[in-house]
Amino acid sequence: MKILITGGVGFIGSNLALTLQRDNDITVVDNLLGGNTENLTGFRGNLVIDDITSMNLFQFKDMDVVFHQASITDTTFSDGKKMVEVNLGGFKKVLDFVLKERAILVYASSAGVYGNGPCPMREDQKLSPQNAYARSKSLMDEEAMRHKDEIKIVGLRYFNVYGPRERYKKKAASMIYQLAQQMKANKNPRIFKYGEQSRDFIYVKDVVDATIRAVKAKESGIVNVGTGVAITFNRIIEILNEVLGTSFKPEYFDNPYSFYQNETRADTRRVKELLGFEARYSIEEGIRDYRSTIKSGK
Ligand SMILES: NC(=O)c1ccc[n+]([C@@H]2O[C@H](COP(=O)([O-])OP(=O)(O)OC[C@H]3O[C@@H](n4cnc5c(N)ncnc54)[C@H](O)[C@@H]3O)[C@@H](O)[C@H]2O)c1
Repeated sequence: MKILITGGVGFIGSNLALTLQRDNDITVVDNLLGGNTENLTGFRGNLVIDDITSMNLFQFKDMDVVFHQASITDTTFSDGKKMVEVNLGGFKKVLDFVLKERAILVYASSAGVYGNGPCPMREDQKLSPQNAYARSKSLMDEEAMRHKDEIKIVGLRYFNVYGPRERYKKKAASMIYQLAQQMKANKNPRIFKYGEQSRDFIYVKDVVDATIRAVKAKESGIVNVGTGVAITFNRIIEILNEVLGTSFKPEYFDNPYSFYQNETRADTRRVKELLGFEARYSIEEGIRDYRSTIKSGK
């Protein structure tokens, strides 16, 4: 297949490109806002450094599938206008392209759209996006579903993704990465009082699997990509201690944010039905698989 991956230098996009390149003809487009080409070491496809909001996507011919990952991904970025220009504006340009080319579109939405809504979070529950990033993702979902009968469009509400190639996200990298870095620096890992907040952490290999399965979805739709299990930050520190062979204690501090998701947990029924997807990695297995990368700092 001929495949275009926007944001393919980033964390999830690069894992996807490297997985798909064996059997497919891949083009990656990225403006290097958040990604680093080191993520694509070993990539044999076509890499185009450009910005999806201003470039001409129609230079790409005969694409079968577009995986749209490009986005401002820093959830603390508060310039709402810029967020919408890049995330929704970029998405509309990709939509124009796939609608004309009759390609399949698989795009990255986010569990952020649920805000502090009830768990398990269901695709059809009332959305409650609490920051500029989450609002831009819910606008993308609305826009996508306006076109769901014209072509196949699948939106993936990723939960908290962790794994190799996330380091260039810096402060936007997962809590698992942040805590591991503190522990590697011989410091007690710092978390908000009292570490009982929980997240549906999903390993990037599972996320790549779900993203590829979306191409063969029975129909257009929006689905959660999570494990269905929420893990507390205290438990993450326990697992990291086991995996790294350390015995650090959490250092608790006051949460300065007025808005904070205390729990995220996906309802996974719809993704199973539409994509036949179930996460294969438990949190223990995922962190164990991630161990050598954590240790090498890559
Ligand atoms: N990692 C997670 O936990 C998570 C959770 C929910 C949703 N998502 C979504 O998944 C997608 C991938 O996220 P990620 O974690 O790999 O983040 P990332 O920041 O590593 O990747 C995003 C990539 O998009 C590129 N980009 C940004 N603006 C661009 C533009 N205008 N033109 C071209 N390229 C541009 C960046 O340079 C970067 O390489 C994003 O859409 C993100 O919102 C991620």
